[in-house]
Order: sequence, then structure tokens, then C-alpha cells
Amino acid sequence: MNDQTVNPGLEDVVAAKTRCSYIDGEGGDLVIRGFPVDVLAEAATFEESAFLLLHDRLPTETELAEFRSVLAKNREIGEQLCGVLREAAADERSVMDALRIGMAAADLGTNSEDDEALAKRVIAVVPTIAATYWRYRQGYERVQPDRDLDHAENYLYMLNGSEPSDETAIGLRSYLNTVIDHGLNASTFAVRVVVSTESDVVSGATAGIGALKGPLHGGAPGPVLEMLRTVYETGEPERYVRDRLNAGERLMGFGHRVYRVRDPRASVLEAAAKRLYNTQNGVEQNQWLYDTARTFEDIAVDQLAQHKPERSLKTNVEYYTAVLLAGVGIPKELFTATFALSRVAGWMGHALEQLADNRLIRPRSVYQGHTSREWIPLEER
Ligand code: SDX
Repeated sequence: MNDQTVNPGLEDVVAAKTRCSYIDGEGGDLVIRGFPVDVLAEAATFEESAFLLLHDRLPTETELAEFRSVLAKNREIGEQLCGVLREAAADERSVMDALRIGMAAADLGTNSEDDEALAKRVIAVVPTIAATYWRYRQGYERVQPDRDLDHAENYLYMLNGSEPSDETAIGLRSYLNTVIDHGLNASTFAVRVVVSTESDVVSGATAGIGALKGPLHGGAPGPVLEMLRTVYETGEPERYVRDRLNAGERLMGFGHRVYRVRDPRASVLEAAAKRLYNTQNGVEQNQWLYDTARTFEDIAVDQLAQHKPERSLKTNVEYYTAVLLAGVGIPKELFTATFALSRVAGWMGHALEQLADNRLIRPRSVYQGHTSREWIPLEER
């Protein structure tokens, strides 16, 4: 038994068949339900992308109207959940902790006989929990969603209390479409493990939120923003990288388990950020961020290549996520929750796929512990 090969972190282990998304790590391509990510990012509304993940096809006009109505109806949260979020705000819990608490406490029903309907309710409620929580943390009252706004616009409306500009809504929509699904990343795999036990998709989403929080996964964009701010303020990018790497630290926004070239989503988000920064006059205060990101990226990639020549560490999705979401006006504390707002649709697509052809996910391990030990009574220890 001990001669089994162990793949730490399940690296390169193929654990499922999926129709949700395809990643070519060597060529740097990402296809989501058959659409290249750059096509989906710009052409789709988030509702169309989410429907695509759930049903493996684009909605007709009637289906899209019906889906929008289901999201609108289930976007609202009741006073009981608001009370839970107020308590979390009083304890100053992190946004991702509050999202996990809110998802677990939300009254979405866990009737597994209709997983698809439950999955849509899970998708609908994420922006409301995040926005409501953040307003409570700021000492404000919540803003009720507006049924005339779409999913992306409503998130910004519930956050800020005012309708977003077209450019801002387009910038957020590009982001949400770009990060909606990405193969068997850690959080998606966590969701599949949970639903493979025939638990419910709400429990799956709660597990996904917990996994996404980590800085090795979805928790990187906030630290990317701080990194770029430090580099801008010190004006010493090379020194910053050298000091971090010499200290054995990782540069957030670089490296990937699958991509050995620049993450294709980095290009999509860089273009979306450039468009936003060029078109929105109110973003001048962030122009330094876009300019710093552009110049720092090459310096970081070059020094990472010298630091780890055997490991191709290129720009990943989180680097320009920080630049784009800052331009959209999302506070950095909400970057990962905004990621979850989108990825929850991918999680639900994978959950329904798992349930449609389920087999309990249960890998094996190689035991390296003691064997046949003698019991020692307490008084003799
Ligand atoms: C996402 O899986 C997905 O698809 C995720 C995602 C998605 O859409 O769901 O794409 C989203 O999670 C993007 C990644 C966001 N995280 C970061 O930006 C954090 C910084 N990146 C690293 O922590 C790292 O690159 C990972 C976690 C992303 C991937 O790491 P791997 O594949 O497990 O590689 P590894 O940790 O084995 O690293 C190999 C070597 C190590 O050196 P040694 O221990 O062998 O000496 O490369 C080094 C690492 O220290 N290394 C880095 C580095 N990334 C890896 N060194 C400095 N800076 C980095 N960013």
C-alpha cells in the first residue's frame, strides 16, 4: 500500500469530467461552456453567464426574463438574516466570514428535490449579503435591491445607495463574467465534495466560500492592491520584489497551479480596466494604480523568473482584478466577496453537474503513522 504515488495538493490529478470550463495551462486559453473567456466577458450580461453555467446553453429572451425575475425575487433578505449580519458587524467579522455566516443562516430552503431552484436562490442572495453586511460595518442602514436593476448594477446600488454609471456597471460585469468558472479550483472542488455526499447546494456554497477566502486562492486581490500602493509610494519596484522574495514571501497576483503562461483572464481584466480608466473621468484618482500595475508587472515577472527558473510564475487573474475592482469603486475588503458573487454561479453549475452523475468523492491516503503501539495507562505516562 505504501508504494502508492501521492500527488501533494492533488496536482495534475484528474478528478472529474466537466462541461463547465476548459483550461489550457500551457497555451493560456480558458473556455467557459464553449465560449472563449474574452468573448463571454464582453458579450454577456451576468445573468446570461450564470444561466449558461446552470444550463450549458444561452437563455432565450423568455428564459432570460424569467431568470432575472427569479434572481430579483430571491435577492431580497429578511429581517432575521439582517439581524445575524448586524451581530457579525458588531463583532467586526471579515466580509468573507460574514458571507459564510449569512449563506448558512439564509432561509433558502434545503429541499434537495429541487436543486436547480435552490441553486438560483443561492446565486441571487450573495450580493445582498455582502453589500448589506458592508453597509452595517460602515454604520449605515441597508439599501434594498431595486428590481429594475440587473445583478451587477444591484450589487453596486446596494453597496453605495446610488445607481452606478454605465462604464462602472460594464467594468463590473466584465469582471463577473471573466471569473465565473475555472475548472476544479479549490473552492469549486470543495463544493463538489460536499454535494457528492448528497448534502445540499447551500452547504456546498458555504464550503466554497470558506475555501475561496484563502490568500492562495480568492484572497489575493486585496494584498495585490496593497502591494501596488506600496510600490507606487516607495517608487522602488525592484527593491520591493527583491525584499519580498528574499524574505521567502510570495508575490500576490502571480503564479498559478495550472497556467504556465500569463493567465488569459489577466489580459481580459487589463483591457477592461484600461477601458474603465480611460472613459470614467472620476477615476483619475486611481490612474496611478493602473500605471503602476502596468510597469510593475514586467519587473515582477522578470524577477520571479530569476527567483524560480524552474517554475513559470506569470501574472494570474488576481493582479488586474485589484486594478479593475478598485476602479469600479469596490473597497478592497470586498474584493473576495465580489469574486464569490460571480464564482457562486460556477459552483452551482458544477454542483448540478456532480449531482446529475454523482459518485461520492472519497480519495485515499498513504498511512505513515505508528503501527501496533502498546497502550500506556494514564498513571504510567
Ligand atoms: C486563484 O486554481 C485556480 O484556478 C484558482 C483561480 C480560480 O480562478 O479559481 O485561478 C484563482 O486562486 C489565482 C491564484 C491567486 N493566488 C495568488 O496570487 C497567491 C500567490 N500565488 C501562489 O501562492 C501560487 O502561485 C499558487 C498558490 C497560486 C499556486 O501555487 P502552486 O502551484 O501550489 O505552486 P507552489 O506553491 O508549489 O510553488 C512552487 C514554487 C514554490 O517555491 P518552493 O517552495 O518550491 O521553494 O514557486 C514559488 C513557491 O514558493 N511560488 C512563488 C509564487 N508562487 C509560487 N514565489 C513567489 N511568488 C509567488 N506568487
